[in-house]
Amino acid sequence: MTAPQFSLPQPSTPLIGRAQEVASAQSHLRRAEVRLLTLVGPPGVGKSRLSLQVAVEARFSDGVGYIGLSQLNDANLVAVSIAQHIGLRQMSSGSPIEHLQNYLRDKQMLLVLDNFEQVMAAAPMVAVGGGSRTQDSDHQPHRPAPFD
Ligand SMILES: Nc1ncnc2c1ncn2[C@@H]1O[C@H](COP(=O)(O)OP(=O)(O)O)[C@@H](O)[C@H]1O
Ligand SMILES: [Mg+2]
Repeated sequence: MTAPQFSLPQPSTPLIGRAQEVASAQSHLRRAEVRLLTLVGPPGVGKSRLSLQVAVEARFSDGVGYIGLSQLNDANLVAVSIAQHIGLRQMSSGSPIEHLQNYLRDKQMLLVLDNFEQVMAAAPMVAVGGGSRTQDSDHQPHRPAPFD
């Protein structure tokens, strides 16, 4: 069975370098206990491009999605944006967050949330929704180095 294909943006330029960072991210994501991987760094360092490459190369049995949140400034809409992206219909009862969490619970899916800094208030929802089994202190952000 092929994984559902959620639309990934087409990279506008070929990737330069970053092979090591892509491999490192993939190896983190393959570990069952890693439910959340954060790329942090100053604007323009290459977080979006790196995460897109990781998405393009990743293989998860229930699919890979890339959700750009740049147009969003309401953290309450993050769950709805994710649900829309993966084609999840809103149920009439229950909150969108609960619905999304229930749906994702037994899925093997990579969801890249780009521009998350705009909706930081949704971070607890993502941490819980990702089923993170680790404590916050174990969650190591991944810092892409600037190009030389
Ligand atoms: N490894 C790379 N290869 C080619 N282009 C890149 C690479 N990293 C970043 N870019 C380009 O540099 C610009 C800034 O990168 P971006 O990923 O948007 O940065 P950030 O998300 O950290 O603000 C974008 O136009 C992006 O396509
Ligand atoms: Mg970016």
